Amino acid sequence: MKTGEIITNRLLQDEYYRVEFYAPEICRTARAGQFVHVRIPNLEHRILRRPFSICNCTEDGVLTVVYKVVGEGTRALAGLAPGMACELMGPLGNGFMPPKDGEYPVLVVGGYGSAATFMLSQNGGKGGLVLLGARSASDLLLVEEYRRNGFDVRVSTNDGSAGHKGLVTELLTEAIRENGDRPVRFYACGPTGMLYAVAKMLCARNLPGEISLDHLMCCGVGACFACVVKVKDNNADGWRYARSCNEGPVFRAAELYLED
Ligand SMILES: Cc1cc2nc3c(=O)[nH]c(=O)nc-3n(C[C@H](O)[C@H](O)[C@H](O)COP(=O)(O)OP(=O)(O)OC[C@H]3O[C@@H](n4cnc5c(N)ncnc54)[C@H](O)[C@@H]3O)c2cc1C
Ligand code: FES
Repeated sequence: MKTGEIITNRLLQDEYYRVEFYAPEICRTARAGQFVHVRIPNLEHRILRRPFSICNCTEDGVLTVVYKVVGEGTRALAGLAPGMACELMGPLGNGFMPPKDGEYPVLVVGGYGSAATFMLSQNGGKGGLVLLGARSASDLLLVEEYRRNGFDVRVSTNDGSAGHKGLVTELLTEAIRENGDRPVRFYACGPTGMLYAVAKMLCARNLPGEISLDHLMCCGVGACFACVVKVKDNNADGWRYARSCNEGPVFRAAELYLED
């Protein structure tokens, strides 16, 4: 268990916050797609930790999480001031595999899913494409940060308040068509419905992709089976349960058991 002292904890936009912890041990090995399990102080009546993707880690040990206030835990987190601390467990989960040599990264993200893929954009200026989807303009996260890292950013919103009016999967269809035969690796994180739609599109075209599933979790370390998802298997059913906290949260698109 590590203690992460809060360096800054500020409102980013709308209901989204960015918190920076001093967590050098975690930063030493963290990879894109891994997460930290955070014990938020002053929540003794609700003891479960809360999982958050590692958005960024610097060489001097600053770990960034971008989070949306959705309930009691995240509201309590938003109230913590610099100098206070949270117990952090991590880095947990398997994380994304970086693109192979010559592969162009295409990130497909919804809402705070853009935090999970952000470290993939730190690829020494080699660039890539990020398709950012959200309900509304105020739910689009890290747009400028991706641009600063040399990524081409395309945006879709359900209500048309920014970018293409519609679903991020429509941007993906276009990107796949434009891309032709160039070797690409796709990465996705966001709402579950969107992720399964992306996985189906990639599998139908035999394209390589990695999907980070944001599943409810309890222990975070493989002990309770609260976080299971169906993956393909050679048994009679054709599937088995995998724990998304320690066998995931990143799965290959081709590995997920996709029900109709
Ligand atoms: C691997 C992983 C990475 C995550 N990364 C981020 C992140 O980078 N930023 C971020 O803001 N959130 C992230 N989440 C979701 C985050 O863990 C939850 O929003 C948080 O635990 C909610 O705690 P709470 O006490 O505020 O809400 P609760 O009071 O527990 O719940 C409030 C509402 O939020 C919903 N909720 C709770 N957990 C989740 C979840 N995992 N996914 C979707 N809805 C949920 C509940 O169903 C309920 O409707 C991640 C989750 C996982 C599993
Ligand atoms: S959260 Fe307990 S096994 Fe995954």
